[in-house]
Amino acid sequence: MKKKQRIRITDTSLRDAHQSLWATRMRTDDILKIAETIDSAGYYSLECWGGATFDVCMRFLRENPWERLRRIKKVCRKTPLQMLLRGQNLLGYKHYPDDVVERFVALACENGMDIFRVFDALNDPRNLEQAIRCVKKYGGHAQGTICYTTSPVHTVANYVRLAKAQASMGVDTLAIKDMAGILTPGAARELVSALRKALPEMPIQVHSHMTSGMAAAMYMAAVESGAGCVDCAISTLSSFSSQPPTESVVSILESEGFDCGLDRDALARINDYFKTLKEKRQPVSSARVEPVDAGVLVHAIPGGMISNLRSQLAGQDALGRLPEVLSELPRTRADMGYPPLVTPTSQIVGVQSVLNVLSGRRYSMVTDETRRYAAGYYGRTPAPIEPKLRKKLCGRLKPIDCRPADLLKPGLVAAAAELPPDTIKAEEDILSYALFPEVALGYFKWRNADPQNREPVPADVEEAKKTASEATAKESEILVEGNAAPVPPAAGGTPVTAPLNGTFYRCDAPGKPRLAEDGAVVKAGQPVCVVEAMKLFNPIKASAAGRITFLVEHGRSVTKGQVVATIK
Ligand code: CO
Repeated sequence: MKKKQRIRITDTSLRDAHQSLWATRMRTDDILKIAETIDSAGYYSLECWGGATFDVCMRFLRENPWERLRRIKKVCRKTPLQMLLRGQNLLGYKHYPDDVVERFVALACENGMDIFRVFDALNDPRNLEQAIRCVKKYGGHAQGTICYTTSPVHTVANYVRLAKAQASMGVDTLAIKDMAGILTPGAARELVSALRKALPEMPIQVHSHMTSGMAAAMYMAAVESGAGCVDCAISTLSSFSSQPPTESVVSILESEGFDCGLDRDALARINDYFKTLKEKRQPVSSARVEPVDAGVLVHAIPGGMISNLRSQLAGQDALGRLPEVLSELPRTRADMGYPPLVTPTSQIVGVQSVLNVLSGRRYSMVTDETRRYAAGYYGRTPAPIEPKLRKKLCGRLKPIDCRPADLLKPGLVAAAAELPPDTIKAEEDILSYALFPEVALGYFKWRNADPQNREPVPADVEEAKKTASEATAKESEILVEGNAAPVPPAAGGTPVTAPLNGTFYRCDAPGKPRLAEDGAVVKAGQPVCVVEAMKLFNPIKASAAGRITFLVEHGRSVTKGQVVATIK
């Protein structure tokens, strides 16, 4: 009898799935209660680490993400652990120096990570080089990635070129990452076949989302064309904007004569467990999501991004303008050279689109990130930005052509020096801080506090609220803070106002000196403070020349139009 062809399944329940459906609120203890069963089920790998899981661990759960990795590894001895790594961005939103990338990868390997899916939001191979080199150096499995999107410049020939570039860097396998769930079965067949032809020895894995409802059918087409592994989530954590359900995909594949090698009884036990856990961990906002968002087939905006846009607009009291933003977004994306919409480009394009709508005049407000993006600090854009617009977006920032990280000085020693000495318990803490400075400091402070007097864990507070009043629970993604009382403008002088609701800062990064001292003489147009909204820093410029008086304390919430300083 002919041996059945083996198709492997990666389980995303511990990373992408709860990120997509439960706002990444699964706790380490939740994972450990079922980890042994998951490990025994026969998966190819377990995706359990990535940007949001790392950030949320510290920010909302007050857990150490490194400790989570070690504890999972201790139980899951059979199945390789997998993570999603944003190339030179690691788990953050900016490019890190090569020494930070190297130590991060080394420590991830040391703490138990096996497979690194390395991607770059712009598909710029130069941004993958260092991460892939380090994964190989420290004994990990390097999986290259094609971020799939559609545009006039995203052709099969270009994707094959990108795959070959990664093959020459020594990747072990290759992933097609369809973060928006827009890859059709026909396009998958064409792409996978072309990749198999160009790189016959390269194993291909496919990652998608059920947002548009096509992913399971697309997986079938990809597998028939030669893909050997697909990403799924256990049924309770599947569908909607998450991955296709493992149990269904296994049935589909096995009905066509493939063998997935998964233990059905184990799958049933895993699903029973998560079904119970769902009651506790699923935020109210996620429970209201539509099963299929057919709009994705038109606007191609990933599900997670739409919920972010919704949160951002709600934060600006402008939720009603979502349809305008959805139609603005493809225009902004085209202007910016058709970047695939994935972190951090999804954030940059999303926020810029929101600003283009809210400000009433496109690009009259440009975030720092848009500026840096246009100047090449995130890498080469898939299509060039129209020169006049590029000049406008860059402002005074000089465009660059090199690999962005080539301009960065080593960062590890500097990061370590910024940390108060008693906060560091291990080298891993320095990396946590280098990636998420404010979040890590908040977590370290919480960790150092006397356990009797610690502030409550933010995720516990959210859950208590949810239980108390399911109906009035807030969007869990929004970090809700009380709005500061409006400050009356000081008599005389030109007011400097907050352009958005957000958090007011006097400097543009933690540990940096203030942009302008109280009472200093400033020039008109000079950045004097910052309002952080939607995870991005919007510099506020002096509205006139003169002596500046600040009216708001560093770190306070401000509302749109609030006077934050006056200039006389
Ligand atoms: Co995904």
